[in-house]
Formats: sequence, structure tokens, C-alpha cells
Amino acid sequence: MRLLAAILFLLTLTACGEEASNPSTEPVSERSAPLIPHRFEVVSPDPNEHGERLSAVLGCIGCHKLDLTGEDWSDPDWGVLWTANLTQSAAAFSEHELTVMIAEGKRPDRALMDMPSYLFSEMHPEDLAALASYLKALSAKGEQHPEPTIGPKLAEEIASGAFKDSVQQVAEMKNKAPPDLGPQHAFARFILRATCAECHGMDLQGSTEPMLDAPPPPNLRIVAAYSSEDFSTLMKTGKPVGDRELKVMGGVSRGRYSRFTDGEIKAVYDYLAELARRGP
Ligand code: HEC
Ligand code: HEC
Repeated sequence: MRLLAAILFLLTLTACGEEASNPSTEPVSERSAPLIPHRFEVVSPDPNEHGERLSAVLGCIGCHKLDLTGEDWSDPDWGVLWTANLTQSAAAFSEHELTVMIAEGKRPDRALMDMPSYLFSEMHPEDLAALASYLKALSAKGEQHPEPTIGPKLAEEIASGAFKDSVQQVAEMKNKAPPDLGPQHAFARFILRATCAECHGMDLQGSTEPMLDAPPPPNLRIVAAYSSEDFSTLMKTGKPVGDRELKVMGGVSRGRYSRFTDGEIKAVYDYLAELARRGP
């Protein structure tokens, strides 16, 4: 069931991305201004510590499990699919091969499936190198998981062209990014593309599909309701404004965004507040 949810979700995202490329629906112009790769803030001079922080912020620890040994997403209709055991992958592949898998969705022998490389395709080469170096430093543990198989539902999706593998997703999303709000917001735009876009969409307009047992990820212009302080509390503790619990976002914030630096949180807040100010 989990795989089903995940796959449907990724397909929805791809569909959203396609819609977003239609110029008539562009809420903000200049969306296609080139993305200049930025680095996440470097708080430790040790690349492996930097890579470890990125593995949390970017959600590698969500899909590949906290210890990065991978998770079973198999489903009878869709087929066998494990998110890889990255401790074993690190032993089996070179740093360069790891960065190509992360940012291009391409393993030496095949395209990956459902690995969201389109989010990481615009990352700074030094950040990718730090991630790969961190993975390389892990000691291999646990099993190497089985290769994916194609179940009947997935076969249908492949035949109809609805399914895109990770390499195809990278190509499709190549020139797509959240709205360009000018050079002073370029850093945040880059962060949002690499992480929030996974669920809130490349255009940050949210989705209409409920996520697991939570409501759909909303349009991020919702941040207009947040002060800078409240937003920082959401990112660090998962607690939103008002007396509520967020089923998905609460855990995502605690697991991932509590590892943002204050500078990254402020940049993202300023960007989203400005986006909301410019209208829907
Ligand atoms: C939305 C879930 C998701 C996220 C987030 C995610 N991955 Fe993956 N990743 C997958 C899945 C699923 C596979 C298996 C793909 C396959 O076998 O075709 C995979 C495969 C990989 C592989 C290939 C390994 C191998 O041996 O075949 C690497 C390397 C990898 N991911 C690294 C990362 C890193 C690093 C991050 C964070 C920057 C990350 N992934 C984030 C789902 C995810
Ligand atoms: C794994 C999916 C996922 C990711 C990644 C994600 N979100 Fe969310 N977000 C959600 C969902 C689902 C909701 C709906 C509320 C819930 O979780 O119950 C939500 C809700 C929110 C809300 C509304 C909170 C409220 O007051 O109701 C804000 C603001 C938000 N997200 C900001 C962000 C930002 C900023 C990022 C990136 C730094 C991000 N989200 C990344 C899934 C995600």
C-alpha cells in the first residue's frame, strides 16, 4: 500500500510539473530564469558531517530509513521495489557513480525507479560530493535488497507512457523551478526546489491529493499566516500556528527541517512571505 501511495504521489507530482510548464498558468513570470546552483550553508568544515546534515534535510533518511539500510515498498500490483540499502550501495559504487545516481537517477546498469533525482539535479557539485563522501564513510550493514520487478499495474503505466523512471523525471523537470523572485531570493528558491517541491509541487502550489492520512500539502503561500518566529518554530519542532497537530508535516519538520540552519530557515521564510505578497 505504501508503494502504491508513493508511486501515485510521484506520478501526481510529475503531472503537476507538466501543468506548471504551461505559460498561461504561471503565477509569476520569469520562472524559467536559469537556476544557479547554491550550496546549503556549511556549518562543519568536515564534508562528511555536511553530507550527514544534507541526508537529513533532503529526506534521504525518510525513504531509505534512518540508518539508510532501505525500506520495502513492494506491492503485488506494482511489483517489488526496495529503496536501496545505501550502506551497501556506497560499498559497491564509486563516489562519482553515487553522485550520478543521486542527481541524474542513473545507475551504471539502468535507470532508477521512484528515486526523486529530479529534486537533486540542480544541486551544487560540492554538496553532491559531500553526500557521496558521507555515504562512502558508512560501514556496509544489512542485506543488499532484490532488484525491482514490474507488476501488472506498473506494466500498464509503462505501456501507456504514464510512468516515468528517474532519468526521465530529471529530463522533464530540468528547467523547472519554483518562481524566480530575484537574486536576493535565489538561495531560498534553490532550497525549496531541492526539498519542499517534493510534496508541495515544483510551483509550490500544493496538491489536491491527500497524503497518507494527512490533508493534501497546501499551497505554500499559506506562510502569509506565519510570523518569522512561528515559521521557525514549525521548521524546528513541527508545531504549526494554532493548536493543531500536522500528521505529515510535523514529522517531516522534526526529522528533516530541524537540521536547517537559522540562515536557511530565514531565507525560506522571506522567500515564501514575498511569494504570498505577490498574490496567488
Ligand atoms: C521519495 C523517496 C526517496 C528519497 C527522498 C530518496 N531516495 Fe534514493 N532511492 C529511492 C528508491 C525507491 C530507490 C530505488 C530505485 C531502484 O532500485 O530503481 C532509490 C535508490 C537510490 C540509489 C541507488 C542505489 C543502488 O544501489 O541502486 C542511491 C545512490 C540513492 N537512492 C541515494 C539517495 C540519496 C543520497 C538521497 C537523499 C539526497 C535519496 N536517495 C533520497 C527513493 C528515495
Ligand atoms: C514529505 C512531504 C512534505 C515535504 C517534503 C514538505 N511538506 Fe509541508 N506539508 C506536507 C503536508 C502533507 C502538509 C499538510 C499538513 C499535514 O501534514 O497534516 C504540509 C503542510 C505544510 C504547511 C502548512 C502548515 C499549517 O499551518 O497547516 C507549511 C507552512 C509547510 N508544509 C511548509 C513546508 C516547507 C517550507 C517545506 C520545505 C522546507 C515543506 N513543507 C516540505 C508535506 C510535506
